[in-house]
Amino acid sequence: MIERGVPLATALDYASLNPGEVTERILLRKKELNAVILGHNYQRVEIQDVSDYLGDSLGLSQEAAATDADVIVFCGVHFMAETAKILSPGKTVLMPDLRAGCPMADFVTGDALRRLKARHPDAAVVAYVNSTAEVKAESDICCTSSNAVKVVESIPRDRPIIFVPDRNLARYVEERTGRDNIIAWDGYCYVHDDMVLEELATARKAHPNALVVVHPEARRELLDAADVVTSTAGMVDLAEEHDSIIFGTERGLVDRMRQQFPGKTFVPLSGAAICGNMKLNTLAKLAWSLDHRAHEVTMDEEIRVRAHGALQRMLELSGGWQAPSEEEAALELAGVRSSGCGCG
Ligand code: 13P
Ligand code: SF4
Repeated sequence: MIERGVPLATALDYASLNPGEVTERILLRKKELNAVILGHNYQRVEIQDVSDYLGDSLGLSQEAAATDADVIVFCGVHFMAETAKILSPGKTVLMPDLRAGCPMADFVTGDALRRLKARHPDAAVVAYVNSTAEVKAESDICCTSSNAVKVVESIPRDRPIIFVPDRNLARYVEERTGRDNIIAWDGYCYVHDDMVLEELATARKAHPNALVVVHPEARRELLDAADVVTSTAGMVDLAEEHDSIIFGTERGLVDRMRQQFPGKTFVPLSGAAICGNMKLNTLAKLAWSLDHRAHEVTMDEEIRVRAHGALQRMLELSGGWQAPSEEEAALELAGVRSSGCGCG
């Protein structure tokens, strides 16, 4: 019999317990640490089940900025946890598995972006939030899949834009805004870029009346064939309204929607659309992470402050977070007012 509350040595030890006990430990330790679990829509269903907040990159960053928890455990990939740390520097940000990175974010480095900026000194830099803190620090403003069009529209039409790192999202935004001055980085997401029209045709044949919803990280020909192009949070909203959907995105979201709406017909556009990086997080690693207060996400303060500027400009534009007034900030500092959600 394992004594509750005593940390076990490795994640494997937690994996050998029954899932109910692992969940119990997670909830217990979470309360003890005043922690919040933020989970991305692509997480395994069992992680989604214990998350306090589930969402897309925008929603998760808004939540990270607003939470009054002392510890944020981020179940997603590294850039998401880093974003939480940039927005909430006073909090401990933990990741169940530090190897959960985003290959798309790794397409561009701070050095490479500085070199491109030197060649286009007049350009504004828009960094998709799927990027490192160093890249965000080199950028004027960030965007997510749900606000990319709005962010780009906020930049004067005649000003060139360097858009990193997703070429598919860049092209989508270019088309939606009617601009012809976006310099797109040649990065992509292997999960979305690998989806092809043949897979869509097969899914459509099997479900001719289904709504086709595709994430903007997919290739142009798939976006052109979709009924709706939207972020993962947009897809969750559509799942409430429609009975039959073909989802052009990662499996984790489809699995949860199926669990949530067992009577509906929800199918993945591609059975191969699985983000191995997101799936590195498991319930056992989450329990280990809380018990050991690891792995902590840290970063250089100078980079954090510069990256914060780009993120804050995005959040202000999205109407999802407003900086506290001077009076509110003073009360917060004095511990009289808890930092709360400034959602509009
Ligand atoms: P969302 O912001 O739509 O959740 O997308 C994040 C992501 O990593 C998609 O691959
Ligand atoms: Fe990165 Fe693609 Fe995985 Fe999203 S699905 S985290 S963009 S690799």
